[in-house]
Amino acid sequence: MKVGVIGCGTMGSGIAQVASTANCEVVLYDLNKDALANSKAALAKVMARLVEKGRQTEDSAQAIQQRILYSTELTDMQGSDFVIEAIIENLEIKHKVFKSLEAIVSEDCIIASNTSSLSITSLAASLQNPERFVGVHFFNPAPLMKLVEIIPAVQTSNDILEKTKKTIDAWGKVTVKVKDTPGFIVNKVARPFYSEAIKMYEEGIADVATIDWAMRELGGFRMGPFQLMDFIGHDVNYIVTETVFKAFYYDGRYKPSFTQKRLSEAGYLGRKSGRGFYNYAEGAENPEPIKDGMLGEYIVSRIVVMLINEAADTLHVNIADSKDIDLAMVNGVNYPKGLLAWADEKGLPYCVSVMDELFEEYREERYRCSPILRKLGKSNSTFF
Ligand SMILES: NC(=O)c1ccc[n+]([C@@H]2O[C@H](COP(=O)([O-])OP(=O)(O)OC[C@H]3O[C@@H](n4cnc5c(N)ncnc54)[C@H](O)[C@@H]3O)[C@@H](O)[C@H]2O)c1
Repeated sequence: MKVGVIGCGTMGSGIAQVASTANCEVVLYDLNKDALANSKAALAKVMARLVEKGRQTEDSAQAIQQRILYSTELTDMQGSDFVIEAIIENLEIKHKVFKSLEAIVSEDCIIASNTSSLSITSLAASLQNPERFVGVHFFNPAPLMKLVEIIPAVQTSNDILEKTKKTIDAWGKVTVKVKDTPGFIVNKVARPFYSEAIKMYEEGIADVATIDWAMRELGGFRMGPFQLMDFIGHDVNYIVTETVFKAFYYDGRYKPSFTQKRLSEAGYLGRKSGRGFYNYAEGAENPEPIKDGMLGEYIVSRIVVMLINEAADTLHVNIADSKDIDLAMVNGVNYPKGLLAWADEKGLPYCVSVMDELFEEYREERYRCSPILRKLGKSNSTFF
């Protein structure tokens, strides 16, 4: 199979590595020569490390690198069966690239975008044959993160959707089908992990170290919310929240936080700038958590139930099925459990009572209980 990848930045380079490792012949195209050289050098480094660790043989590591053609000519996409675009997040520029691409590849080439925030349907609309267009949303770093969200546009044919899913499954990924809605599954359902943590911090319920400690030690998450936001970068994390908020017509549930906006404005972007919620300078002092079990349980329960409510609502409006929603959060952001299975474990009436108590206290839209959670809770049912 010949796979084209457009854009050799963080995501394009990772996707090219995944496809080549799965024995596909890959063309990695970018208009920036230096970016291509950097991508090639970075892959050589990664491969050397994998050989050192015994995860690849010398021969296979060489073959993976040789199967990728680094090109500044879009015409090298000719003969591709599947092309994935991963360039700058800009609708007009993407439209232009798809128009040029369609004149080069054959009728039956599948054309896909890795966009995080643009509508797949609006991208498909730039093609003469939009039925062949689909969204494939990989997670960073693409070679390590198992999840790929597959998003049909309104125009996508079923046949193309199934072929795409089959292809990416064969690359060893976990694929889930998602309706073309803002944030797809992961970037929508994960919002309360950050926003509810920030809300508790803003109100002085606990400091960042305590909230992170509770979510790690009592909640079982790999990183606490503030650690993770510092890792992702506040510029990136804030924009995702703001994009989802705007795209859902300013639904109060996704309201961004100015605490995070200020960090971003100050250039306190997190790990990459040396300072975010924590200070990463050598010898800098960071606060110690207050390891209070009751407070910790309150923090975990509040954030996890908010996540469950968001997952339930995602099911309620048929963005994805319950199995895929749970697979997505475990494989896309390494949650310790699927949220709907977690809800079953906690008991749905309990989750409803947490939401209702929060709503009673705050009278804010963000705490409205999802109808499906309430309905199933009433009949003492479960999601699975
Ligand atoms: N970074 C992430 O965590 C992440 C995760 C999932 C999806 N995405 C999406 O993937 C896409 C790429 O993101 P990224 O982080 O890899 O970006 P990036 O900035 O690292 O790389 C973008 C690359 O595209 C190239 N490019 C720009 N315009 C081009 C054009 N017209 N033709 C050819 N090449 C062009 C640039 O030279 C650059 O090398 C975006 O749509 C983004 O929303 C990003």
